[in-house]
Amino acid sequence: MPSARSNAFVLFGITGDLAYKQVFPALQALARDGLLDMPVIGVSKSDWSVDHLIARARDSIERHGSYNAQAFAQLAARLQYISGDYRDDSTYTRLRTALGKAVRPLHYLAIPPEMFGTVVNGLSSSGCAENARVIVEKPFGRDLSSAQILNRTLLKFFPEADVLRIDHYLGKEPVQNLLYFRFANTFLEPIWNRTYIDSVQITMAETFGVEGRGSFYEGIGAIRDVVQNHLLQVVSLLAMDAPADHRSDALRVAKHKLFKAMRPIFPGDTVRGQFKGYRDEPGVNAASEVETFVALRLYIDNDRWAGVPFYIRAGKRMTVTATEITVRLKTLSHAVFDTSPFATASYFRFRISPDVVISMGAQVKIPGHAMIGETVELVAQRHESAEETPYERLLGDALEGDASLFARYDNIEAAWRTVALILGDTVPIRPYEPQSWGPEEAAALAEADGGWRNPSPGKPSVETTDGGSR
Ligand code: BG6
Repeated sequence: MPSARSNAFVLFGITGDLAYKQVFPALQALARDGLLDMPVIGVSKSDWSVDHLIARARDSIERHGSYNAQAFAQLAARLQYISGDYRDDSTYTRLRTALGKAVRPLHYLAIPPEMFGTVVNGLSSSGCAENARVIVEKPFGRDLSSAQILNRTLLKFFPEADVLRIDHYLGKEPVQNLLYFRFANTFLEPIWNRTYIDSVQITMAETFGVEGRGSFYEGIGAIRDVVQNHLLQVVSLLAMDAPADHRSDALRVAKHKLFKAMRPIFPGDTVRGQFKGYRDEPGVNAASEVETFVALRLYIDNDRWAGVPFYIRAGKRMTVTATEITVRLKTLSHAVFDTSPFATASYFRFRISPDVVISMGAQVKIPGHAMIGETVELVAQRHESAEETPYERLLGDALEGDASLFARYDNIEAAWRTVALILGDTVPIRPYEPQSWGPEEAAALAEADGGWRNPSPGKPSVETTDGGSR
């Protein structure tokens, strides 16, 4: 019987952007923790030597991680490189030889999705797929039908339990804390429903643009890049019923129930935007209709959430880089005190990045004779970003075969159904100024529910009635 733990790590696309920004730093961290006791084999068509690859790994870690001489030496000693075309059988024959005695390899496909089929075929016919696990990067397909085809291809060669569909948001500490905070406290569950919650909003804003990834982004756009996966996964954790326990199966079952209740998002509830200048980016079509921004309203058709709007907004070249969730509570049906210009309805705020905050906005009286209140924040948790990166956590779990934090296929399929009506160019594209909050139409979308709450760049802010921050 093969051991449960993987004993070789194979990275297709090792010369690419994802390996450079995320995977090398994660591998060094695993080496530091003594968890990388296996060959690390990179595959790519670039004609590189192992020394070139080691230099690239070091550069990657210096820029995107924290270089640790001892751990890096361990990683470098394990690195091997196979230069070859993914369509060429000999690439896989050489990989088989490099795997040597490893009986439980983990293959990570950090390559364009169009190549997944070719690579898994090659792995299978060379014997490299035997007892192996495979990690596939998001987006999983381009839409429902391509996801179905891709899934069938993968399942021809790998059992479901060995297919790990990565969504790095699920490996983020504050995203896991959504689940923990919701279900470890008694006070939340009684109010976590349409009787007490007015609206929910999630903003994922980035000041940077497509950063040399223009040709990749052209085939994707914001909905496929971050909404169908990261942000709908966040919605599922925010809105699902309590799972039986926190382990893989129970969690995925509870999430699936919620995914199935998501109503397909209507084009009329969606605003797509493109920052001015995007069409001049290298690799971008001069007449591109691809969205670099999206704002939308989603409804969940179940008893808990009927009628509660979930607003989602994501964009590149925005005013700040921050991901934040605001859950607004309803106002009291009978107002005992006059409305205060300094106070808002109560809310919960979950800041996912760059820093991490869980807080509650509540009204207290301002000292003095008048019965006037202001909003203050009761902070449950506040810290800088988590130490362990999502990729470190997820690659460690994948080596162990623990799929809890990976997306299950039926949930991915349900997420494609949720965005099906707004993919492509059904919704017109609106230009917006770089370093703004997106096109004007996006502001109008959320107006009826108190407007967007714009996250602050650094220190957490207190909400004001106009939805801004002070
Ligand atoms: C990736 C997207 O999945 O997530 C990128 O492809 C995006 O476009 C990134 O910038 C954001 O991740 P994080 O962890 O930096 O918020």
